[in-house]
Amino acid sequence: MSDRVAAVVPAAGRGERLGGSVPKALRALAGRSLVQHAVDLLTSATLVDQVVVAAPAAELETFAALLGPGVRVIAGGAERIDSVRAAIAVLDETVGVVLVHDAARPLTPPALVDAVAAAVLGGAPAVIPVLAINDTIKQVDDVGRVVRTVSRDVLRAVQTPQGFRRDVLDEAYRLGGMSADGVAITDDAGLVEALGVPVMTVPGAPEAFKVTRPVDLLLAEALLARRD
Ligand code: C5P
Repeated sequence: MSDRVAAVVPAAGRGERLGGSVPKALRALAGRSLVQHAVDLLTSATLVDQVVVAAPAAELETFAALLGPGVRVIAGGAERIDSVRAAIAVLDETVGVVLVHDAARPLTPPALVDAVAAAVLGGAPAVIPVLAINDTIKQVDDVGRVVRTVSRDVLRAVQTPQGFRRDVLDEAYRLGGMSADGVAITDDAGLVEALGVPVMTVPGAPEAFKVTRPVDLLLAEALLARRD
């Protein structure tokens, strides 16, 4: 396996839960867009050699101008899975390891990026950062009535970047869609699990949270202000 590492950034979402009229990845946070923060943290990681960003098709020029010549910008698709598939299709032949990192996680420490990449370079076919769950988790029915309490001891919240051996991710995306039990797959590791390939975990970082709701933007602003 080649030790060249590429990072793919799906940034083509509309971000409806966040509100506002611009694509989510262009939302400003401390004077820079979410996607710029994501690209900066990936290029700050010592193990990343190439960055490819999947942008909304109508915004390619805006993204390319913001990110500069060192970053490849391509058109994403209707769903996140389509955006990642389009990005991995343009990676250099020489890339052996692929990290997939959401544009919506602008405070992810570069050290976490390196930890994920190092675990794949060290032999794991797929690696994801995870956190323990703090809240109690309930299963509910379609009218919102509690069915049961789920043991959180065996559950983890999953972050990005998720790291993969390139051949494993290519195969997962070639076959990708539904898991064996018919549950829609919402992350890249889910596609790899469906292949039966083991997925390993590394400790995630609380700052690597996903900016989804307006309150997340406020939290990210506050953390960036403290960091600077
Ligand atoms: O919507 P959600 O927060 O789960 O999106 C996760 C990431 O996937 C975001 O960075 C978003 O821009 C990206 N995405 C994409 N293409 C889509 C939908 C989402 O690249 N069609």
